[in-house]
Amino acid sequence: MEKKLINQVAIVTGGSSGIGEGISKSLALAGATVIVNHPVATTKDAAEAVVASIVATGGKSISYQCDVSKEDQVIKMFADVVAQFGTVDILINNAGLQRDAKFHEMTLAQWQLVIDVNLTGQFLCAREAIKEFLRRGVDETRSQAAGKIIHVSSVHEIIPWAGHANYASSKGAIRMLMQTLAQEYGRNKIRVNSICPGAIQTPINTNAWNTPEAYNSLMTLIPYNRIGQPKDIGNLAVFLSSDDSDYITGASIFIDGGMTTFESFSTGG
Ligand code: BGC
Repeated sequence: MEKKLINQVAIVTGGSSGIGEGISKSLALAGATVIVNHPVATTKDAAEAVVASIVATGGKSISYQCDVSKEDQVIKMFADVVAQFGTVDILINNAGLQRDAKFHEMTLAQWQLVIDVNLTGQFLCAREAIKEFLRRGVDETRSQAAGKIIHVSSVHEIIPWAGHANYASSKGAIRMLMQTLAQEYGRNKIRVNSICPGAIQTPINTNAWNTPEAYNSLMTLIPYNRIGQPKDIGNLAVFLSSDDSDYITGASIFIDGGMTTFESFSTGG
């Protein structure tokens, strides 16, 4: 892969598994130094495995434990990364989780955890990233932009999802967070965009693909007739992080094999 992100430093939240792992590896192949964030002590081994595979292919990477929903931990992570690597160029706001329940049975704890990680976590990390981008400003030896933020959202920022009101609400809110930041900081040369994945083969949605019945049922929602892979998302993250996309800001890019064409309408309506 062409090294379009050479000399740039990227923090990937939730980089130890799933889509975050795929993005971490793709950014590293494009030349970025990747901070593979993970939330707790028990995810350290998984994060270290991602780091090891990046280093094995000649890339630069470290792991960093931080719960993105905790303000003090996020502030410390950005301070430590700036102290060690000089700055941060790219934030991939990826960490997210699901706690599914029928709405009338959803507990406040299920609601709160999803909002805390998926939405407040993206707020806290974006705020620290923007402070650093404003401090450094544009350095054309690195990039035409002062910094890039990529929110990992979902097709569920526009597709309502019964049984997942907390998750869909968090993703709908990310759309407004992203667009507002793009509007507020465009003049500072900070680009802010969202990637909106459909069904990607990761641990978060194992029961949507791990039996033939589940997989076939999933395919009724996907015109392109395959599940997505973390690498599909990684390729888009490299493009949105690089100067190839310098005129793109404030955009939600759907990467879903056509899920948002509402396949179920192909024979009805
Ligand atoms: C969810 C997955 C789901 C996909 C498509 C994603 O945002 O995390 O569980 O398979 O959307 O519905």
